[in-house]
Amino acid sequence: MKFYIETIGCQMNVNDSNKMAEILLEKGCVSAQDMLNADIVIINTCSVRFSAEHKAYSLLGRLKEQKEINPNLVIGVTGCMAQYASKEIKSRCKYVDFVIGAKETDLFSQTISKYISTEKNFEANKHKNNEVFRYITIMRGCSNFCSYCIVPHVRGPEVSIDYNEIIREIDKAVNDGAKEIILLGQNVNSYNYEGINFTRLLQKISQSDKVERIRFMTNHPKDFSDELIKEIAVNNKICRHIHLPLQSGSNAILKAMNRKYTYEQYETLFNKIKQSIPDINITSDIIIGFPGETDEDFKATFEASRKLQFGGLFIFKYSSRPKTLASKLKNTVPLEIIKKRHTLLLEDSNIISKKINEKYINKVVEVLVESFENNTAQAKNSQNIKVFFDTDNNLVGQKVNIKITKVLPNSMSGILQ
Ligand code: SAH
Ligand code: SF4
Ligand code: F3S
Repeated sequence: MKFYIETIGCQMNVNDSNKMAEILLEKGCVSAQDMLNADIVIINTCSVRFSAEHKAYSLLGRLKEQKEINPNLVIGVTGCMAQYASKEIKSRCKYVDFVIGAKETDLFSQTISKYISTEKNFEANKHKNNEVFRYITIMRGCSNFCSYCIVPHVRGPEVSIDYNEIIREIDKAVNDGAKEIILLGQNVNSYNYEGINFTRLLQKISQSDKVERIRFMTNHPKDFSDELIKEIAVNNKICRHIHLPLQSGSNAILKAMNRKYTYEQYETLFNKIKQSIPDINITSDIIIGFPGETDEDFKATFEASRKLQFGGLFIFKYSSRPKTLASKLKNTVPLEIIKKRHTLLLEDSNIISKKINEKYINKVVEVLVESFENNTAQAKNSQNIKVFFDTDNNLVGQKVNIKITKVLPNSMSGILQ
């Protein structure tokens, strides 16, 4: 049987999708090129913004037609929306075969077995050889309750995973050929398992000779310690990229968002990181149009972006989510204004990111090659910037030097040295 998994949302979901794919391969299924060719389709959903939920429902609408043509088609819905809205999914889409929430991923193997006709154990089906990086979940859930965010409501409270289990997973990944380990959690900075904090965990992971690069996400400014800054500065396996969401440059909005830091505290932390780790690339998230956001509040965010000069900025339009405190606020910002502010900031931040990347022009950077197609390789430097270059050889998994010749806001290209 052929399967297709559509992943919406963050790396947590990408990781869960990878695990589901592994289970399906072990059960003798093969992966389909696209949704239309599949016998099993899984939609792994996200709830963080309305648009993510809308995308899931429109995919499910298309699958309804596909099922009318092929009644044997198996349709599964998993992930965050499946966690809190399973009743709604089942009543709106009666043709869905199963719904498994993000907290019930353990049920997947058993559930999918019911739909697979001839189950065999195909170890050989695993296609891990080309894998360059692997996501490793180090904590589940979130206890921060930022007032706009649905994640704590669907994924539950923050739980750190036993570091022995994490190390075992990492050993498995590097033995399969992975060079880069990407640690995942909604707030990795508050990792703590039996007294082992995030810095200690990084130290433990770096001891493995086979781990070449370590990345992690996401960080919360309120928990980013001096100890961690020092560790990144001295540990050359840790990549020079920190995603540090600011969300807003206005203290009134930060307070209403329940972010637990002021803009000034953020700026101090930002400068401390830059001074201690000079080649660091700091990227961030911003929400535009949180209820009550005035022109002055937006101006503060715009100026913060100009002042801090992020290497990359993800700018989201505020989306009211069920269960959240912010969804009860009355002073919402009209969509027209949100759109205007969004465009203003996006255009300005793209110019900044491009200018920041321009410092690489004519410089040689070390990159790890991730993929190769039509004589073009895609790689990433330590700062998490995508680098493209032409080559006749498949260099996937290797570290090579590239002389940068061209830069864009989110990527660069150059010549293999
Ligand atoms: N735990 C991570 C974020 C997970 S969600 C963190 O705190 O950084 C990723 C991003 O989506 C957030 O940083 C935020 O900028 C954005 N986001 C979350 N809820 C949102 C909402 N209701 N509307 C718009 N953007 C939202
Ligand atoms: Fe959501 Fe805040 Fe938790 Fe991030 S830290 S997942 S934004 S509640
Ligand atoms: Fe991730 Fe979306 Fe869930 S951002 S944690 S998949 S709500």
